[in-house]
Amino acid sequence: MPRDTVGGTLSVAAILCIVCSVLVSAAAVGLRPQQEANKARFEKKNILIAAGLYEDGADIDELFKNVQIRLIDLETGDDVPEDVASADSYDQLAASKSAETSVAIEADADIAGIKRREKYSKVYLINEGEQLKKIILPVNGKGLWSTLYGFIALEADLNTVAGITFYQHAETPGLGGEVDRESWKASWVGKLLANDSGEMKIEVIKGAVDENNPNAIHQIDGLSGATITSRGVSNLVRYWCGDAFAPFLEKLKAQSSRGANNG
Ligand SMILES: Cc1cc2nc3c(=O)[nH]c(=O)nc-3n(C[C@H](O)[C@H](O)[C@H](O)COP(=O)(O)O)c2cc1C
Repeated sequence: MPRDTVGGTLSVAAILCIVCSVLVSAAAVGLRPQQEANKARFEKKNILIAAGLYEDGADIDELFKNVQIRLIDLETGDDVPEDVASADSYDQLAASKSAETSVAIEADADIAGIKRREKYSKVYLINEGEQLKKIILPVNGKGLWSTLYGFIALEADLNTVAGITFYQHAETPGLGGEVDRESWKASWVGKLLANDSGEMKIEVIKGAVDENNPNAIHQIDGLSGATITSRGVSNLVRYWCGDAFAPFLEKLKAQSSRGANNG
């Protein structure tokens, strides 16, 4: 075919388009399993970080062998039967966005500012033998610019914070983005969610915690210049630990104390 004709130019352009689209589609399809595997590894890594079990260079899959994953019906706190949904294949983010797999949150209960929450949630338990050591819960809620997604780890008393981490947000670096600062995340460790009467007290305050304050055990330093993000973090922790996961945590507490009495 002569090259310097309109037909020739269009044919070359068309062939090039087809070849490129085949290449791009093949790459997208071919790399999907790798992307899924990377996503799963990223999730596992963040769960281990929240639990304080991750070290640089550690074998994530090896460490994760100690983590039991359960899929919980948030309404009842019971495990979701395998034939209804399986923790292995459950896409929690997608579930939180679909009308069939999520529920609307009443405005006055929606302190995390998320409007809807998934019906089922994964939870991650670290056991030593029969004994629960730590539990890691997925949490999310509104900051200033974005929804923050993370994990909070609790000790076996289900009240002491063992760690917290956020793996996705779009808060401003240096302001709300300081939620990622190691020293700030470390300052959560050992704080108590609720007081002796079971009232949810955990709070990221404005300014620095005064250790002489009787509530200091429930307080975390505010992020300077980022009161809105700080408040968002307080509220999302309070919502998930004090409301959304409450039926499950109550059941787990009852099971643990039955286990302790029998043991
Ligand atoms: C460009 C820009 C980015 C900001 N990013 C954040 C943020 O990520 N989180 C936040 O809480 N406040 C952010 N702020 C500040 C808020 O608008 C608000 O002033 C602040 O939360 C009040 O906190 P303060 O009382 O500690 O000053 C930002 C402000 C500007 C101008």
